[in-house]
Amino acid sequence: MIDRNSLIRLALVGASSAVLNAAFADASAPAVASVSASASSVSAAASPAKKPFTPPAEASLPTDGFGQSVKLGEQIFTHTTQFAGKYVGNTLNCASCHLDAGRKADSSPLWGAYPLYPAYRAKNNRVNSFAERMQGCFQYSMNGKAPPLGDPVLLALESYAYWLAKGAPVGTRLAGQGYPKLPAPAQKADYARGGAIYAQHCALCHGADGQGQSSGGATVFPPLWGAHSFNWGAGMGDIQNAAGFIKANMPLGLGGTLTDQQAWDVATFMDSHERPQDPRFVGSVAATRAKFHDTPLSMYGQKVNGRVLGAP
Ligand code: HEC
Ligand code: HEC
Repeated sequence: MIDRNSLIRLALVGASSAVLNAAFADASAPAVASVSASASSVSAAASPAKKPFTPPAEASLPTDGFGQSVKLGEQIFTHTTQFAGKYVGNTLNCASCHLDAGRKADSSPLWGAYPLYPAYRAKNNRVNSFAERMQGCFQYSMNGKAPPLGDPVLLALESYAYWLAKGAPVGTRLAGQGYPKLPAPAQKADYARGGAIYAQHCALCHGADGQGQSSGGATVFPPLWGAHSFNWGAGMGDIQNAAGFIKANMPLGLGGTLTDQQAWDVATFMDSHERPQDPRFVGSVAATRAKFHDTPLSMYGQKVNGRVLGAP
């Protein structure tokens, strides 16, 4: 029997895919907890100048009613289908993109997000509460449905984010908030170069076909495209967002090792694959692109390998 962290450790030490696949075949334990601290601390070295905010230690979680809500929020965040299944339409967890259960700097940490709301968002052209911002990640990143405002799921997630942000200044953008914004690449980002980087640095965990790997019904390595991934409306479908996330955090445990150019190239490759329709679809791909994807940073509605992406 082998657990998720052991699988990730095997991948990190560069186990061949044959060894890794054998380990998978053997795996029967459901995935638990978040990525081991040793796997994720490596990337902190990439930005030694920044001193990110330190959220409270897990052990300091209160055991009262509020603490129970925080705990539930953490569970929803790390095992989203299991704890909030009716709002989820894919096999990702919130923590698939907000690493270390929403604690990791440069991975859009919850402690960086919570103190910035309410905030104006161009995406829906109004001021969003924190709960409304999370509704967006359910609709697009989780390819699901927004829990209604006041729903216990949103309340628990908000409790968790509030607790992680304990002691953080309100209204201030903290170092490590969001994903880093990479400057435009020196060379135009390239699908073919990105494919080669993918095969070398990503396929071992996410699969040559981008479909990830699961163990005992739980996602170990999340899918990067296809029917079980984030949909065309998600922030990760914006190549600059994806490049920033990948540069800081991928390959897992080796954040900061790809060059900016490599991050742009592999993000372009990843975001040039088919995925679930944008829920804001207005009847045609061209019109949907014109309305929501009118930027070189979105491949929606573009022709790749002879097929228009997003075409139903
Ligand atoms: C596929 C990756 C992905 C998944 C899964 C995901 N998110 Fe996000 N999330 C993002 C991206 C990308 C952004 C930033 C989007 C942008 O800047 O437009 C973001 C932003 C956020 C923010 C605002 C951060 C800030 O600093 O303003 C919150 C809060 C958030 N997500 C919560 C959640 C919750 C809760 C879930 C699970 C229900 C979730 N996310 C699932 C990718 C994801
Ligand atoms: C050692 C295994 C491993 C390698 C190699 C790896 N990843 Fe990941 N990746 C993960 C894991 C695990 C997660 C989810 C984090 C979690 O659940 O804690 C993830 C999450 C992601 C996500 C966000 C979730 C999603 O499904 O969209 C993206 C995007 C991503 N990886 C891209 C890449 C790219 C691009 C590369 C190659 C440059 C890469 N990864 C290499 C293990 C890996």
